[in-house]
Amino acid sequence: MWNKLFWSVAVASLPAMIYAFSTGPVIRRTGAAIDGGLDCTACHRTFAPANSDARGFARISAVDYTPGKKQTIRVQVYHPDAKRWGFELTARLTKDENLKGGIFTPNTLVQVKCDPGGNAPCGTDREFVEHLEPATRSGSDGLATFSVEWTAPDAGSGDVVFYAAGNAADGNGASSNDRIYTTSLKITAAPTGARPVVTSNSAVVSQDFGGGKIISPGTWIEIYGATLTNVTREWAGWDFSGANAPKSLEGVGVTVGGKDAFVRFVSPGQINAQVPDGIGTGPVNVIVKNDTGTSDPIPMTAAARATQTLVPPRWNVGGRQLVAAVFPDNVTFVAKVGEIAGVPTRPAKPGETMIVYAIGAGATAPTVAAGSIASGSTVLTNATALFGTAPATVAYAGLSPGFVGLYQFNLVVPNVAAGDVKLTLSVDGAAVAQNLTTVIGN
Ligand code: HEC
Repeated sequence: MWNKLFWSVAVASLPAMIYAFSTGPVIRRTGAAIDGGLDCTACHRTFAPANSDARGFARISAVDYTPGKKQTIRVQVYHPDAKRWGFELTARLTKDENLKGGIFTPNTLVQVKCDPGGNAPCGTDREFVEHLEPATRSGSDGLATFSVEWTAPDAGSGDVVFYAAGNAADGNGASSNDRIYTTSLKITAAPTGARPVVTSNSAVVSQDFGGGKIISPGTWIEIYGATLTNVTREWAGWDFSGANAPKSLEGVGVTVGGKDAFVRFVSPGQINAQVPDGIGTGPVNVIVKNDTGTSDPIPMTAAARATQTLVPPRWNVGGRQLVAAVFPDNVTFVAKVGEIAGVPTRPAKPGETMIVYAIGAGATAPTVAAGSIASGSTVLTNATALFGTAPATVAYAGLSPGFVGLYQFNLVVPNVAAGDVKLTLSVDGAAVAQNLTTVIGN
């Protein structure tokens, strides 16, 4: 008899457990005060209260909104020990947090529940976005990123506030041993869109690498103007597809010679982009496009190689342009001691290696396409360096692994007298146009 009872209890509780998880957490558990202030620690209690373990976090990323326009909202959850992940997110208007702020679109990894009940579309009901089972990535560690499309509210809605709770879970299939984090983010309506207006002649090579108007595939440019976009952000891991950089951020793109550039940073007054391959040589136009239109063209000049070394403006000291070369410790730079405020520096001795960073040096062997993260070593053929008139051993000249469009030259300082020395770098016969000085000691 007890046997029958056992089975009826066991069988009855099984669907309940599966059911609980496949439907996701209960709504109103993001920690938002307006919803009663409860979060997942109502059940996931082991490390309560939320945010008690400083090794983890939850964060929301979103940019200021254009009324009615879609953007991807992301919730990230992290804890070094976690092996399974979950979240809940809601959006409200700050003028009355009882009102929903915009509309979420469910996808294969996230669901949208309505408050008080049912699933999206929710009409005017408040919404809660939650993980579906595949998004919990059972067994995987690292940073969890949940993404959901969100349509911004109408003009005149005012600020929007997002509340989220994340579960950095241990993956034991129970509510124990999981760490809960809560967070919120307020965004405001960005000024309404306008065609991008560029300052005339405003596209230059990255100023930290000396600026100028001569570009080559893979080099970095800065474009200045107004109303280029109404959001400010830099690219992030999720903008990459594999090792390939994004061609637009928040609807803002750049073309160089008619080809799409790779967009690293956008803001109303400045865009940073990487020049694409296939732009030929000679005059090319740089054009900014956003949702509202395209800018006037900005003329630049394309070359196969236009190497420029790292020379931040404050490295122009004492009437000479010092190259920002670093010792292999990656901390100490080459200059007179104390010459650059806030940077540890000392002269380089003959026989020591110094690393010079550069952009625009052109094709390597093997070739690496513009817009991709370099991995492994590459070679810039026929790279040479002179310290004064003494040739240096070039221990490495190629792309810097792990970066996009950054080159490094590892130079072994030849036997030259102490003091300021002129550094002449060239790649395949094309000398760096910068007038560079470095400092040798003994
Ligand atoms: C009403 C209680 C309750 C609340 C509130 C709750 N959970 Fe859970 N959660 C459970 C239970 C019970 C389980 C384990 C059984 C199951 O899978 O249903 C669980 C399991 C999980 C798991 C898998 C844990 C693991 O280690 O395998 C995740 C992820 C999760 N919940 C996320 C959340 C998030 C995120 C919230 C807050 C937004 C939340 N839960 C709020 C009861 C709750």
